[in-house]
Amino acid sequence: MRKYVELYGLKKSFRNLEVLKGVDFQVRKGEKVVIMGSSGSGKSTLLRCINHLEKADDGVMNYNDRIIKLSHWTKDDVKHVRSTSAMVFQGYNLFNHLNVLQNVTEGLIQVKKYSRAEAADIAENYLEKVGMKDRLKHYPSALSGGQQQRVAIARAMALNPDIILFDEPTSALDPEMVGEVLGVMEQIASEGVTMLVVTHEVGFARNIADRIVFMDNGVVCEDGKPGDILYHPRNNRTCKFLNLLENRKTS
Ligand SMILES: Nc1ncnc2c1ncn2[C@@H]1O[C@H](COP(=O)(O)OP(=O)(O)OP(=O)(O)O)[C@@H](O)[C@H]1O
Ligand SMILES: [Mg+2]
Repeated sequence: MRKYVELYGLKKSFRNLEVLKGVDFQVRKGEKVVIMGSSGSGKSTLLRCINHLEKADDGVMNYNDRIIKLSHWTKDDVKHVRSTSAMVFQGYNLFNHLNVLQNVTEGLIQVKKYSRAEAADIAENYLEKVGMKDRLKHYPSALSGGQQQRVAIARAMALNPDIILFDEPTSALDPEMVGEVLGVMEQIASEGVTMLVVTHEVGFARNIADRIVFMDNGVVCEDGKPGDILYHPRNNRTCKFLNLLENRKTS
């Protein structure tokens, strides 16, 4: 299978706090990779360095056959990555002054240059997939967290990206809404898009992930098949973290 994103030696510090200390890993085209790791281990920073929401200090990325020096992005590098990727955040990040339909059509009109009518057709199709077609005229403030996140996922999918980066998409949701969002993500996963997902949802990782990448202290400390990482972790830190997750669930 072709590689889609390859990272070598990604480093990032904030002032004198070294957050990413040389991250190496690869995501192949169509692969679903889950990233786990304790709070503060640099997972969000890693995703943000991939799409230039944050600029790394060092490292190289091969992004779909384009070699990008991560400390010196060109305008074309940014365009190349942004035009083929989308991101779904923990906090939904919908535009509060736009209704559901407009939240999805906005990027299609502004970035992809579709006409308003074409954009509405595409948007409705994706909103139907996430079960939100009956709420087109609702504003985000009138939706539950799970509904808002489903709109955010439809917005990302509508851009027809090659890869979607998810940063803990369910961690801000009430427990009863987690399932509906994970259900939508599982459906997307079956459609072939490449997914890089920061999440601690073990069930989702077990069902969907081709690989789990475990981060600790600014580096990848374990990378392998879900069955190996979840049930036979080799790294001490992975064991400890998975035990903590298990205890949190049962307490
Ligand atoms: N813009 C910033 N300025 C300064 N420090 C930052 C910034 N963004 C992140 N950090 C710090 O970098 C470290 C890694 O943060 P990051 O958000 O990547 O961790 P994370 O693994 O996503 O954690 P969590 O699981 O809590 O979301 C943290 O210590 C955080 O305080
Ligand atoms: Mg984070």
